[in-house]
Amino acid sequence: WRRRARGLRRRASRVPGADPLAAGNLNALDRHVALIGFMGAGKSTLGPVLAERIGREFHSVDAVIEERTNTSIANLFVERGEAGFRQLEERVAGELLARRPPAVVELGGGALAAESTRQALEGHAFALLLETSPEEAWGRVSASGRPLARDLESFTALFARRRALYDDVA
Ligand code: S3P
Repeated sequence: WRRRARGLRRRASRVPGADPLAAGNLNALDRHVALIGFMGAGKSTLGPVLAERIGREFHSVDAVIEERTNTSIANLFVERGEAGFRQLEERVAGELLARRPPAVVELGGGALAAESTRQALEGHAFALLLETSPEEAWGRVSASGRPLARDLESFTALFARRRALYDDVA
């Protein structure tokens, strides 16, 4: 099951009867809807809209991490290194995906690298992949201060390395 965010919106407004996001459809699944995809794919834009639409809570792994540590993701990368951030990310993703009732859960672009997160997705979630291109994503996040969006070349290389991971899960 895979759709582009843009496609979702278009389909939703034009053919309400066939709307894949209609409450009945997704709520019939007793699973979280997990939004996955690269930085800048639109997960945090779509997430709250989708959650409201299907009458669920919205949780963002990154937002929960920032709340709990009382600092930004960028700062965490500086203070604890990427490895320190990944530990937190894995723990919080595991927690959110184990919770009931099913919600809409947004995972950061790198969260799927953790085996336990991939297993939690398989066990408790319906993964919705938001696709993007490196160029489109770069246009959206290059000025955001994200630690892994420093230059277009490494950003594009990361995109290429991540692709198989997303495709395997969605
Ligand atoms: C990351 C993506 C970010 C955030 C962190 C690392 C990644 O989340 O978790 O900067 O490794 O792709 P978004 O996908 O919401 O930008």
